[in-house]
Amino acid sequence: MSYKDERLSEEKVFKDPVHRYVHVNDQVIWDLIGAPEFQRLRRVKQLGTSYVTFHGAEHSRFNHSLGVYEIVRRILNNFEGQPNWNQDERLLCLCAALLHDLGHGPFSHSFEKVFKLDHEDFTRKIILGDTHINQILRRVGEAFPQKVADVINKTYEDKLVVSLISSQIDADRMDYLQRDAYYTGVSYGHFDMERILRVMRPLEDQVVIKESGMHAVEDYIMSRYQMYWQVYFHPVTRSAEVILSKILHRAKSLFEQGYAFKLKPTHFLSFFAEDVSLQEYLRLDEHVVLYYFQMWIDEDDEILSDLCERFSNRHLFKYIEFNPNLQMNQWMELYRLFTEAGINPDYYLVVDSSSDLPYDFYRPGEEEERLPIHLLMPKTNELRELSRHSDIVEAISGKKRTDHKLYFPQDFLEALPEDSDIKKRIFEILFH
Ligand code: NI
Repeated sequence: MSYKDERLSEEKVFKDPVHRYVHVNDQVIWDLIGAPEFQRLRRVKQLGTSYVTFHGAEHSRFNHSLGVYEIVRRILNNFEGQPNWNQDERLLCLCAALLHDLGHGPFSHSFEKVFKLDHEDFTRKIILGDTHINQILRRVGEAFPQKVADVINKTYEDKLVVSLISSQIDADRMDYLQRDAYYTGVSYGHFDMERILRVMRPLEDQVVIKESGMHAVEDYIMSRYQMYWQVYFHPVTRSAEVILSKILHRAKSLFEQGYAFKLKPTHFLSFFAEDVSLQEYLRLDEHVVLYYFQMWIDEDDEILSDLCERFSNRHLFKYIEFNPNLQMNQWMELYRLFTEAGINPDYYLVVDSSSDLPYDFYRPGEEEERLPIHLLMPKTNELRELSRHSDIVEAISGKKRTDHKLYFPQDFLEALPEDSDIKKRIFEILFH
């Protein structure tokens, strides 16, 4: 029997708090899970710094990746024997689901911004490069690694396959919403996935939802909306994220100035140079990063030491609502006052903005075209875009909300001399 059809002699199951069990029957899937590049995902948290806000949110990208695989496996079980579904694509879908987040690095949100990296780029490199994952995929077929990369990259010719992994209602989102809700402990994020899976139908180029399942999908869209604002963009999490980025900036800048580190940033060198090799990328997980931060508390550089202490001990920046587009003058005055007070504003005065579209239908010609959700109408079998049929979804469609905050170390400001004009003026501007 060829490797791609090889089954395990006995089914393996992973106990999963969200899906109860994750079932593995294929030898290929079992081998991929065992590969070091996949095991590394255990050391990268799914929600980055969210654990400073929600202490339960310590789950890893390993958990999530198994979850996405399991959802796709269940969808494909339902698709078996349906018109439009080609069973030959099964293994490809399962591999793409399992590996879709393979290139995520430590605290990817901040790392990608500071070092101009792209985790999708690394996902491709791990799948196509000189790795254990690539060796396993190549045993299925010479062209197979490229196919898996194409599905994740959304360029694969069969759009039905692509839409399972990335669309407005895909296995990725269905897993992370439920998983993140479970681990943060919030009451948002729950929806009836079993129902959605039952009403999904494969068409030629996309997965659609039977009209009778519309309310379950509405619930899913609302849960996504709630999770963004209650969990993903939580201002306290962003405070930790701000400090994290500033640590990376400071370490890079010190290194460039030839500063003598007590603990040399060996693992960061190619990141600082913005030319990261695959091997070095895979070596830097969150455990390594946190080790450096812990050790850098003892550095002589006061800024690096202070920021690392803040991050390690959850000694975070405070924040206020602040729109830099409307409050430019205040921003400039604060910048000057901080400098005069001896608090470096490049590290200690930070504006952070977040925005999201809860649901956006297709608008031809727009740069980031998102695959919309289509309902399959009874009897006529015609397709209707979700927001044209659901008042609830229509109400939040295409609405972009942006939230700006200004972050600063309030303890530093309070420690300024009581009678100083600088202190008075800073407090006036920040807290009117
Ligand atoms: Ni994902």
